[in-house]
Amino acid sequence: MSVDTQVDFAGIALRNPVLTASGTFGYGTEFAPFLDLRRIGGFVAKSLTAQPRTGNLPKRIVETPAGMLNAIGLENVGVEAFISEKLPALPDGVPVIASVFGTAPDEYAEVCKRLTGVDKVAGLEINASCPHVKAGGIEFGQNPELLADLVRTVRSASSLPVIIKLSPNVTSIAEMARVCEGEGADGLALINTLQALEVDLETRRPALRNVLGGLSGPAIRPVALRMVWQAAGAVSIPVCGIGGIATGDDAVKFLLCGASAVQVGTANYINPMAAAEVAEGIAVYAERHGFARVADLVGALEID
Ligand SMILES: Cc1cc2nc3c(=O)[nH]c(=O)nc-3n(C[C@H](O)[C@H](O)[C@H](O)COP(=O)(O)O)c2cc1C
Repeated sequence: MSVDTQVDFAGIALRNPVLTASGTFGYGTEFAPFLDLRRIGGFVAKSLTAQPRTGNLPKRIVETPAGMLNAIGLENVGVEAFISEKLPALPDGVPVIASVFGTAPDEYAEVCKRLTGVDKVAGLEINASCPHVKAGGIEFGQNPELLADLVRTVRSASSLPVIIKLSPNVTSIAEMARVCEGEGADGLALINTLQALEVDLETRRPALRNVLGGLSGPAIRPVALRMVWQAAGAVSIPVCGIGGIATGDDAVKFLLCGASAVQVGTANYINPMAAAEVAEGIAVYAERHGFARVADLVGALEID
């Protein structure tokens, strides 16, 4: 295929614009039997905290029409075990973006500092948007002042590209995007899951022990497209589109709406090769429509 698939995202060179979304692709090695990571642009690891976390009690996942609801609660091995045990097992030549979470800006900064200068870590994605933990996460993503403080703190903690992952659970995504750009973020990633509730009729209880969870999958794709389009129109830093992407055509829609790269999340649970197939599908679309470079699709949405 003659299409040039390379893109630059926030200063990170990617062989194609497709990354796997945080929390949906383990630490990368779990998928090795199915997918050579060198077929995708990069890998976003599960959100890391300063100390290991066990997450919420089950039940933590429930299937919904065209999607799923999760309240994992940021279970993770902690930043030290990630660096000493998980990173060395990943193949060379695959940019790893480490996702960072904390309950306060200083905790985020501590994890960012620890990851800076570590081999294979090409960038930091700041999870300012987790909808189902008791402290942190969504609070930062929903309040412009708290978000500004968080971005300022992580920006000064690391020389790596800083990408802020935004919450869709806000009134104005454009305002949040501008706050991040104003505080020096290198890029944005959106959307995280939509806060949601499902009910188990037999028990007459919430389907998840945590009561509220985050909705993901094809059900949220049009909402994500709308938010990516609004965010990309509000800032000049690059935007990574996330939400319900399962095919190359889904991904192209995000590129047209202004995303410079995309992430594949829930689709990995259905098809562990989804991210590679999405990358190939984008190139097929570009070739069929006469685009020499995948990057030329970015923002090419025609509006009268
Ligand atoms: C089971 C599960 C765990 C997730 N864990 C994280 C996480 O640790 N950090 C994060 O930023 N997003 C996390 N997400 C959100 C995804 O990265 C993504 O933003 C969201 O699911 C929307 O994309 P999708 O519809 O393609 O899944 C998680 C999503 C799921 C389904």
